[in-house]
Amino acid sequence: MTGKIKAAVLGATGMVGQRFVQLLEKNPWFRLEVVAASERSAGKKYSEAVRGGFPMEFSEETANLEVQPLNPKKLKDKDVEVVFSALPADVAYKVEEEFAREGFIVLSNASSHRMEVDVPILNPEVNWEHHILVDEQRRRRKWDGAIVTNPNCSTAILTLSLKPIMDNFGLKRVVVSTMQAVSGAGYPGVPSLDIIDNVVPYISKEEEKVQAESLKIMGSPEKPASFKISASCHRVTTIDGHLEAVFVETDEKVKPEDVVDVMVKFRSEPQKLNLPTAPQPPIHVRFEENRPQPRLDRMAGGGMAVVVGRIRKDEVFDGVKYVVLGHNLIRGAAGCSVLNAELLKAKGYI
Ligand SMILES: NC(=O)c1ccc[n+]([C@@H]2O[C@H](COP(=O)([O-])OP(=O)(O)OC[C@H]3O[C@@H](n4cnc5c(N)ncnc54)[C@H](OP(=O)(O)O)[C@@H]3O)[C@@H](O)[C@H]2O)c1
Repeated sequence: MTGKIKAAVLGATGMVGQRFVQLLEKNPWFRLEVVAASERSAGKKYSEAVRGGFPMEFSEETANLEVQPLNPKKLKDKDVEVVFSALPADVAYKVEEEFAREGFIVLSNASSHRMEVDVPILNPEVNWEHHILVDEQRRRRKWDGAIVTNPNCSTAILTLSLKPIMDNFGLKRVVVSTMQAVSGAGYPGVPSLDIIDNVVPYISKEEEKVQAESLKIMGSPEKPASFKISASCHRVTTIDGHLEAVFVETDEKVKPEDVVDVMVKFRSEPQKLNLPTAPQPPIHVRFEENRPQPRLDRMAGGGMAVVVGRIRKDEVFDGVKYVVLGHNLIRGAAGCSVLNAELLKAKGYI
């Protein structure tokens, strides 16, 4: 274990936090040193504090960790360098700044800082070069730490699928309709009587996030992309895995087989650097008429790849339409943050 970089997970007892813990247990570069959560959980054994519903498997060592409160000084004493945050946005705003000010690299899943101009929203295969915003952030905020966010879950999945299309044919207009799993709402999430035998055609602030974050991610570090994007977001009864129907109008005329080709061949910086959590390949293309499906495909690439299917011509847009699926808690949350940390380490920030 020696030589690994010590890491903490804030919000370790929640849906995303538990995935962080699982991923860090087997990460070759980072060692899980501290699990932290609210005062409700602090002082308990991790195995007793984790929120229920989906018992995940942890090592005995992890299960026996004592949950810590959110205290940067305590983490300093334990030589933690990197902090993975799975806190609710209202809590994360202040807490993540406190940790960055104390010199920690904070990899955040919360939306609180995403749209600030000097904070990157990194989806590593899509905009890995936006890591340079960390330099600007440190200059402006006069801190040695950093806040690096990853996208909202639906945006992470969508933008990964759009990247090879944008690079090869340009994007003019994108329409996306999502079918989002219940774990995306955290624990305990949507009341069972609201969601069983039902679809809820509204997720608070989700459509705005998908639209604004996609443009920020797919633009340059200084300027958002200029294509038009419209999202409609819906909660369905799937446990894990967001499915999205995507309609794309490109700058250049494009045939479905061209899109298949660029998606299948797509590799990016995390694959070239062979980062431990990078899925190889990042996009899986399926040719069956009824794939991807959440139950069958959400664990593709260990949950880090997205699965695209039904790539076909779209008559209205004179472009293509397809379905993309990704694991909201892994590609769309904890896994994306861990890959961001690996990218930052490879680029010399950690
Ligand atoms: N779920 C997803 O698919 C997903 C995807 C992308 C991003 N996100 C974002 O990731 C974050 C975590 O989401 P989640 O789904 O994991 O939520 P969750 O299941 O509700 O977990 C929230 C975590 O935050 C802790 N917490 C809550 N209030 C706190 C406080 N006042 N002080 C300290 N800790 C506190 C909880 O600890 P206790 O158990 O001690 O209360 C728990 O560990 C959110 O910002 C969410 O928007 C979620």
